Amino acid sequence: MSDFVIEARGLSKTYQDGQIKVEVLNEVDLAVKPGELVAVIGASGSGKSTLLHLLGGLDKYTAGEVRIVGEEWRTQSEVKRCQLRNEKVGFVYQLHHLLPEFNVLENVCMPLLIAGVEPIVAQEKARAILEKVGLSHRMEHRVGELSGGERQRTAIARALVRQPACVLADEPTGNLDQHTAEKVYDLFVELNRAYQTSLVMVTHDMRLAERLEKVYQIVDKKLIRER
Ligand SMILES: Nc1ncnc2c1ncn2[C@@H]1O[C@H](COP(=O)(O)OP(=O)(O)OP(=O)(O)O)[C@@H](O)[C@H]1O
Ligand SMILES: [Mg+2]
Repeated sequence: MSDFVIEARGLSKTYQDGQIKVEVLNEVDLAVKPGELVAVIGASGSGKSTLLHLLGGLDKYTAGEVRIVGEEWRTQSEVKRCQLRNEKVGFVYQLHHLLPEFNVLENVCMPLLIAGVEPIVAQEKARAILEKVGLSHRMEHRVGELSGGERQRTAIARALVRQPACVLADEPTGNLDQHTAEKVYDLFVELNRAYQTSLVMVTHDMRLAERLEKVYQIVDKKLIRER
């Protein structure tokens, strides 16, 4: 077994649309330990979202390997990949991808119900994490009725409700004002401490990045350790 929650070695990605090839990542290495907090920065179009998608098994890589809790994405069956994604990885997207017609509690319950957890148990777990993110009073509200910060906190609760080994967050504070962004960030750190979850967070916000343990930057298709 590997000591890392996420381990990428010689990871490369080239998109191909018809005749046009776009090389985005070239032999990138990254290893994330349990409980580690990692920031990824880089210019728009440098490949940050691409990297997160590859780490989370959402897209195919062109070369190299990516292991999640020691299992290589490429060598798993589609069924096993889904299982690993559901159990081990929590995604937080910049656009939160919540289900607008469902309420907050239902959105957070969803990953548990998909995993076959009994509805009563799912509700209990969802309520507990919603309390942690400060949304106890909004559980019955539909997502469409929430503020931006509340939606983001709902998305974080949903990503963490199964206590995944790692959370991959793509600019989770990108559309929030500085004050709310800081609060969302604090929440991440607090929940990471509570659950020993690793975090890889893409951000444009250098002030937030500076507060994480390690900072990487994507420059010219390479991932460079900044700090
Ligand atoms: N499906 C795709 N097909 C072809 N090219 C793509 C595809 N997805 C992304 N790209 C290209 O890959 C490059 C990296 O995109 P990516 O979305 O990873 O950048 P990013 O660093 O997340 O940018 P941003 O900060 O703007 O979100 C871009 O040049 C983009 O146009
Ligand atoms: Mg992006």
